[in-house]
Amino acid sequence: MAKSGFFGWLQRTFWKKPLLDYDEEIASPDGRVVVRVNLRLGKLFYSVKKDGKVVLRESNLGLNLKGEEPLGQGLTIVRVNNKTVDDQWENLVGEARIIVNNYTESALYLSEASGNKRLFTVRFRVFNDGVAFRYEIPPQPKFQRLIIADELTEFNADTNGSAWRIPAFQPDRYEYNYERWPVYSLTSPVHTPLTIETPLGHFIAVHEAALYNYGSMTLQMNANNRLQSLITPLSDGMRAYVDLPFNTPWRVVMIADSAIELTVNRIVLNLNDPPKQDFSWVKPLKFMGIWWAMFVGEWTWAQGDRHGATTEHAIQYIDACKRLGIGGLLVEGWNNGWDGDWLQNGASTDFLKPVADFDLAKVAQHAHEHGVELVGHHETVGFVDNYERQLEEAYKYYTKNGIHYIKPGYAGSMMVIQGRKEFHHSQAGVLHYQKAVELAAKYQIMLDVHEPIKGTGTERTWPNLLTREGARGQEYEGGALSPSHACIIPFTRLLAGGMDYTSGIFDITNVAKRLATTLARQLAYYVTIYSGMQMAADRPRFYEEVHPDAYEFIRTVPINWEKTVPLLGRIGDYYVVARQDRASADWYIGGVTNEEAHRVRLNLDFLEDGEYLAEIYRDADTAHYRDNPLGMTIETRKVLKSDYLDIWMAPGGGFAVKLQKV
Ligand code: NOJ
Repeated sequence: MAKSGFFGWLQRTFWKKPLLDYDEEIASPDGRVVVRVNLRLGKLFYSVKKDGKVVLRESNLGLNLKGEEPLGQGLTIVRVNNKTVDDQWENLVGEARIIVNNYTESALYLSEASGNKRLFTVRFRVFNDGVAFRYEIPPQPKFQRLIIADELTEFNADTNGSAWRIPAFQPDRYEYNYERWPVYSLTSPVHTPLTIETPLGHFIAVHEAALYNYGSMTLQMNANNRLQSLITPLSDGMRAYVDLPFNTPWRVVMIADSAIELTVNRIVLNLNDPPKQDFSWVKPLKFMGIWWAMFVGEWTWAQGDRHGATTEHAIQYIDACKRLGIGGLLVEGWNNGWDGDWLQNGASTDFLKPVADFDLAKVAQHAHEHGVELVGHHETVGFVDNYERQLEEAYKYYTKNGIHYIKPGYAGSMMVIQGRKEFHHSQAGVLHYQKAVELAAKYQIMLDVHEPIKGTGTERTWPNLLTREGARGQEYEGGALSPSHACIIPFTRLLAGGMDYTSGIFDITNVAKRLATTLARQLAYYVTIYSGMQMAADRPRFYEEVHPDAYEFIRTVPINWEKTVPLLGRIGDYYVVARQDRASADWYIGGVTNEEAHRVRLNLDFLEDGEYLAEIYRDADTAHYRDNPLGMTIETRKVLKSDYLDIWMAPGGGFAVKLQKV
């Protein structure tokens, strides 16, 4: 047992003999979160408390290896290193410019007591708002490579907690509706972040950070009634093939006293490295698309009478972008491979050849002359082999045409990698996504990845990964999205980073795709759903002719934020957040509610001193997402930080406020 105080320090620092039993408490800088690590009979366990109340009971650690003894048994402690870090860093693009990074670290250097005496380190970081740890496997005299057969990490949360889950290993990847299930019923794998309300009143989210070269972590109850990591397997059943030295991704447990506090947890970003190269060329972007017209059946991706991606349409949209003050235009369906059943054509899609009625060079030239960025599109349908063969040439082709933004897509239930069918979130998928990001950085290309790997904060190191999809977004409207979804994702999916939700659809009542939203709510999304690239996803006529007043909010709402102040929220019910523009002193507030109307009285004390002109876009008193979705009232009034804003959200509604410093 390690002693506390001076003798404990002496023992920890200078002992010579390996310890067979060890017990250590690692406290967060504010002392409220405490991790207890103990080694008993050669096995290592951890447990977590906050304010003396249990967050995770004793949980196992370790790895199963193919053809080797499991790693994590017969261990002795060789050395323990402790340190405290208290610093902050600046985010190039994000929800806050300054990110505070403050934690206590304890690295436990372990060795097997007998046999091959393999070395193994578990590094813990305890933050004021959560816990992280990872396995580090240093070079070993007898092994250079390891095959991870299973990870044995447990997160022993109270089985009576409530979890918001989406299923893993399903054909639509992360695109499922969140359901609230008791922890004990999570007997099939679920994705992370997994947000849980514990019976003692904590809100925790289990996730991972810095996922590189490893299968992504899903979670499942094990035979001992504990949540356990289940690493996405490769097609041969193994979880990862790694060379030593190797560090696993960080295992993360965010901990908050309320659901709303969870939404500003920055541990995942903090656990990623700063960028290793210059990214000053990275710029957030608002963009329109030759896109929604396809979803409502006006145009098609494939060539034909109603082909969307024609030279003529693209030029019209570029002109509209210019008039509307939108920085970019996405064009989908521009290249060979989209004709007929594009989901079946993935093996032969050509990323270098425009279709006959799309003159890429001409469109690019027009965009350039009008100061509009063209956003390229690569729909791979998950055929990674076909894509990687062309990847570098495809990037070169775009950059030669002045294109610096790409939306890659990986529709399809599995990827095809080296001729094998692999999960998108397997080690093979993770390696591909990362390869694409790194190569894009080489060509100064920024990405909005659809059907992506989930966010694990790697955009801190690779800020050209501006945003991703990775959840149900508005393309699921028309029946498969309920208003509660946008009240759940701020507490679940968005803990993994920004999301391209394809906001700003004003054609709400179109029978081809009827949205479960009000008009004001479409504006709210620009604040409630952070994304380094924000789409104004509807067709230009809806902004210029049908709802020009509502469009004014989209025109000015920023993408990059100085600060984020979470205001109110209950998972699945409502969510309200305030954010300050990075380029001015202005603030913006967004709020969304579920199927129920909700009234809020917002304290404005996050504002600075002085007067603000509040432009309020709210649901009309008679608005309702079903009967009167377009009912919206725009009001202006002067407010001070001592004021309150009273706002009513209609069923399925929301609001957006711009607070301009006078
Ligand atoms: C799925 C993407 O999410 C969507 O945005 C895109 O339009 C289609 N794939 C086609 O690429």
